[in-house]
Amino acid sequence: MSDRKPETDSKKPIIILGIESSCDETSAAVTKDCNVLANLIADQKIHELYGGVVPELASRAHQKNIVPVVDQALKESGIKKEELSAIAFTRGPGLIGSLLVGASFAKATALALKIPLIEVNHMQAHVLAHFIRNKDAKVPSPKFPFLCLTVSGGHTQIVLVKDFLDMEVIGETIDDAAGEAFDKAAKILGLPYPGGPLIDKYAQTGNPLSFKFAEPNIPELNFSFSGLKTSILYFVRDKMKEDNNFVEKNLNDLCASIQHTIIKILIDKLTIASKQLNIKEIAIAGGVSANSGLRNALIEKGKKLGWKTFIPSFEYCTDNAAMIAIAGYYKYLKGEFVGQDIGATARYKI
Ligand code: KG4
Ligand code: ZN
Repeated sequence: MSDRKPETDSKKPIIILGIESSCDETSAAVTKDCNVLANLIADQKIHELYGGVVPELASRAHQKNIVPVVDQALKESGIKKEELSAIAFTRGPGLIGSLLVGASFAKATALALKIPLIEVNHMQAHVLAHFIRNKDAKVPSPKFPFLCLTVSGGHTQIVLVKDFLDMEVIGETIDDAAGEAFDKAAKILGLPYPGGPLIDKYAQTGNPLSFKFAEPNIPELNFSFSGLKTSILYFVRDKMKEDNNFVEKNLNDLCASIQHTIIKILIDKLTIASKQLNIKEIAIAGGVSANSGLRNALIEKGKKLGWKTFIPSFEYCTDNAAMIAIAGYYKYLKGEFVGQDIGATARYKI
């Protein structure tokens, strides 16, 4: 990795093209300092047919989408490619075939435009979504150090955020991620992929205390969701033996109870972490932070315990390139650029 300091003219804005392709969303964004000028996301409906993301199909779709998505992002931002200061891309973690599409595109474009290339850790970028600024939204950002519960389809982490690029994972899942728990539970109920948003929707009119599922007993700040999944599977299987229409008749209550259990597991650990570290600036990030129950639960807990809570706007919860561009901006300020020998990596710790 080269550590060349950027040639910054303090008055000149830093314009970053961000590229995200770690899973099943092809996204490109253009930022000017901390402001988002455009954030385009092409999602891939094809995976619905298979009940989950098919890696081979995902990389093919990225290949097809990346040029039009970048083109549209530049158009919407009103920025010419010659005006870009640097290109930031997701290096990992994620599906390797998908990551390689974004990485190759970013490398080739940086080379052609003769501008710096910046690699970004996807999980770090989810946290940095809290520093995205929109012209019309003057939301405050958390102050360092803060805790961030980062919950997505592949990860569940409690992150101690000491500075923009200085983060430490202090707790994480030992098996399934929270988003995976939502999606697998939804699959058991016969709902299509991704099931998280659908559980959220049906839960709105259900009773969260209708059904009780097993809660894990995992030491320290770590999480586990595989036992919950098994508990839901056996419960539904037994009930269906008694009444074949059980799920249909109780869908809202089932969704509300499942959601309630997942949220309780997350918020309980976050509360322990806050007490242990004596930190009351508490944020959430990642796809599952779009969940309305989790957003409300965080606000309610915050009121009780005197937390200052931070929740990203919906468009920056799930995968998006604006968060990659913002991470790129902070790396640009530190001159953290990489050479053409950089690769993508499926596993990438914060
Ligand atoms: O961060 P993300 O877009 O991609 C990964 O990096 O994994 O997160 C995707 C996950 C999926 O599991 C999806 O079901 C979940 O976030 N998700 C939700 C909601 N919106 C997205 N889960 C519960 N409620 C939601 N509203
Ligand atoms: Zn993500």
